[in-house]
Amino acid sequence: MPELPLPWIAAMAALAQVADSPAIDGAMIARVVSRMLHVLSAIILGGGLFYMRSILSPAGAEACYAGRRSAWARWVAIASFLLLASGLFNFLAIFDQYRDAGHKLPPTYHMLFGVKVLLALAAMFIAAILAGRTAAANRFRAHLAQWLNIGWTAIIAIVVLGALLRAHHVLGPQGADGGAAAAPVESPHG
Ligand code: HEM
Repeated sequence: MPELPLPWIAAMAALAQVADSPAIDGAMIARVVSRMLHVLSAIILGGGLFYMRSILSPAGAEACYAGRRSAWARWVAIASFLLLASGLFNFLAIFDQYRDAGHKLPPTYHMLFGVKVLLALAAMFIAAILAGRTAAANRFRAHLAQWLNIGWTAIIAIVVLGALLRAHHVLGPQGADGGAAAAPVESPHG
């Protein structure tokens, strides 16, 4: 058999690899983009709360915003919207994946997810009210350090819950009968 030129061999190898990897279709791209938006928004909201709590708040509320409170308030709104939208999409994609594989999401998943969403709403509220311009926002800012502590602790708990939720995929679902472990359902997150 004649020797194939190198580019052909490389192309064949790449093709062989794609054959084994998940189909790169619209659903796959949507899931990857949703996960990216979720993690990026978590970095913006969590990172902002962490920086204010650990670096700026000891110097007072004014130091936290450097006269740019409304700019941060806008990013809190954008990150919160993207977290809610991508979070809901992630949940529905995972739910569908389990259902298509003939399994139900275990009760522990629903419980952890519920706690995660409640903590997320609390963290979003704290970030928004501390960046607000109402009388209520001023009252919250009077206890800035305490609220930033609560907000940052909520973020840590949310990230731990995110990892625990994800562990459900890696470990694989139990069959509906709770008996022998079924083959792991491929996580939509890849
Ligand atoms: C402050 C708000 C939030 C933060 C910091 C946050 C953070 C995270 C992180 C770090 C992950 C793990 C990412 C990964 O490894 O794939 C995750 C996963 C997830 N989050 Fe959030 N999240 C927040 C809000 C929400 C909300 C509001 C929802 C639902 C409406 C949500 C639903 C989900 C889902 C479904 C997953 C995937 C879990 C899995 O792999 O089974 N998140 N989140």
